[in-house]
This record gives sequence, C-alpha cells and structure tokens, in this order.
Amino acid sequence: MKSKSVCIAILTREQISSAVVRLAAELNRDYKGKLPIVVGILKGSFIFLADLARLLEFPIEIDFVRLSSYGQGTETSGKVKIVSSPRIDLKGRDVIVVEDIIDTGLSVKHFLKYLEKKRPASVKVCTLADKPARRRVSVNIDYLGFTVPDKFLVGYGLDCDEKYRNLPDICVLDEGL
Ligand code: IMP
Ligand code: MG
Repeated sequence: MKSKSVCIAILTREQISSAVVRLAAELNRDYKGKLPIVVGILKGSFIFLADLARLLEFPIEIDFVRLSSYGQGTETSGKVKIVSSPRIDLKGRDVIVVEDIIDTGLSVKHFLKYLEKKRPASVKVCTLADKPARRRVSVNIDYLGFTVPDKFLVGYGLDCDEKYRNLPDICVLDEGL
C-alpha cells in the first residue's frame, strides 16, 4: 500500500531565516525613504511575507492577491485566475510582489500583466524560491531566496492539497513510501 510521507528538509528553518534576513537587507537598501505596497500572493506566501515584513525598516502597506491555477495535487492546470484582487489602489505606487515559489512562471506573469494595467510607479518581484527547471514563461526575479531543484516542495507556506503549509522547514514530498 502506498501513502504519502514527507522526507528530510532540503531547506532548514535556519537556512530560510538567513535568506529572509538577506532579502530584507536588500529591500531595506533599495526602498529606503519610500512607501511601497507589498502584495503577497496567497496562500503560499503568507509565512514568508510575515517574516520578511517584520524585518523591513521602511514603511509599507500590505495587501494580498489570491490566484488559482492548481487543481488538486502537484501539477498546475496552466489556467491562472485572479480569485481575489488587491484592495489598495496601486496607481502610481511602488509595488513589491511577494511569492513563495516560481515554477512555470504562469501565475506571477498573469499577475504582473494585471498590475501593468493599474499603472504602478514600479513593480519588483521577490520570491523565496525559484524552480527554473519547469519554466514556461520568462519572469524577471528581482529578489531571490533560493534556486531549488525540480521537486515538489512543502512547508513554510508551501502546500500539497492544502496540507503541510505549517512545517517550519521546506521539505521534499516523498510519494514513494
Ligand atoms: P507557477 O504558476 O507554475 O509558477 O506556480 C506558482 C505557484 O504554484 C506557486 O505560487 C505555488 O503556490 C505553487 N507551487 C509551485 N511549485 C510548488 C511546489 O513545489 N510546492 C508547492 N507549491 C508549488
Ligand atoms: Mg503560491
């Protein structure tokens, strides 16, 4: 009988924490004296954004967008929809998009196209993880935590069928046990 189990962490909480500190330092350098809007892509970015936001030394406003592309399981459907859009007016504002992981790139690209129409002053992308092996559309990443291998990852906000988001480390989901 097969059942899913989570195997050893590939990114420990200590590694994640150092990456978040480094990313916050980069943002603190670039946004000093500004008042950007940080837009988290739900649901996966919620833990990363919560940790990152507390290290930012410039004033921010926070909003969220909810995208859907995944059905159940580990494959994207390829069709991205905005299920819930940011409420703050983005016109003329500096926007920092915060994502958990960029895989095919379709989700972030879809949101960036939506953002363009709102005429922000600037848009930058900050992602905890980048999985370039499966990229289908190119995405410019301005702030990157880790480049990760082509494995399905869970933990620190990342889910599989809505589970495992609360794991403090990022782990490979081992379906073979
Ligand atoms: P993309 O549109 O293929 O780039 O997918 C981006 C979204 O898919 C991310 O925001 C995640 O929510 C989800 N995703 C991609 N790879 C993984 C993974 O390895 N584990 C969990 N979620 C993932
Ligand atoms: Mg996500």
